[in-house]
Amino acid sequence: MSFIVVATANKHKVDEYKKLLGDIEVDLKSLADFPNFPEVEENGKSFKENASIKAVAASKYCQAPAFADDSGLEVEALDGRPGIYSSRYAATDGERIAKLLSELEGKENRRARFVCAIAIAFNGEVLETFEGTVEGTITLAPRGDGGFGYDPVFQPDGYDQTFGELPAEVKNSISHRARAFASAVEFVEDELSLLGDTF
Ligand code: IMP
Repeated sequence: MSFIVVATANKHKVDEYKKLLGDIEVDLKSLADFPNFPEVEENGKSFKENASIKAVAASKYCQAPAFADDSGLEVEALDGRPGIYSSRYAATDGERIAKLLSELEGKENRRARFVCAIAIAFNGEVLETFEGTVEGTITLAPRGDGGFGYDPVFQPDGYDQTFGELPAEVKNSISHRARAFASAVEFVEDELSLLGDTF
């Protein structure tokens, strides 16, 4: 059976991808299925560059079409930080949230957006990249324990609850990852049949 690899071992992300793939008949593997996959240095200057670096490496190593995402939080009052450094902003989710809230203390502008870039690669070459965003505000304190990362302090526009409080189905229908993925899905459906003979 054909398979496609998502270049992450993050279980939350894999679960989101599984739900997003919905009816598409393809076996989804992750880096958890390739435990010896070597660490890749994410030294790109944009979400798209970092996603491409990971997808290319995974497609070569796993000998299959691979997609990778790179995502993060851009906060207006912090000139777009933490941005591509969102995971490296502090050591744990709790510390990242605490640092963010302290940097925003006293600031009126709490506008922020999650950004997700997805790259699809095959045989070590990027086939296509996609980007999705979701706009919202940073709350004054964390609310809810759903999701992961900055979810408890991100309230998407049009909702009274944070991503940490909203049901997973709601987050998965409006998130940056869902939006980037929606554009990627059509491409995968079309291209997978073409790639199908080659792996
Ligand atoms: P990466 O895409 O694995 O490099 O992770 C980017 C960082 O952005 C993660 O450490 C998360 O903290 C944060 N992030 C990305 N997507 C989300 C999301 O959907 N919710 C909350 N935080 C996220």
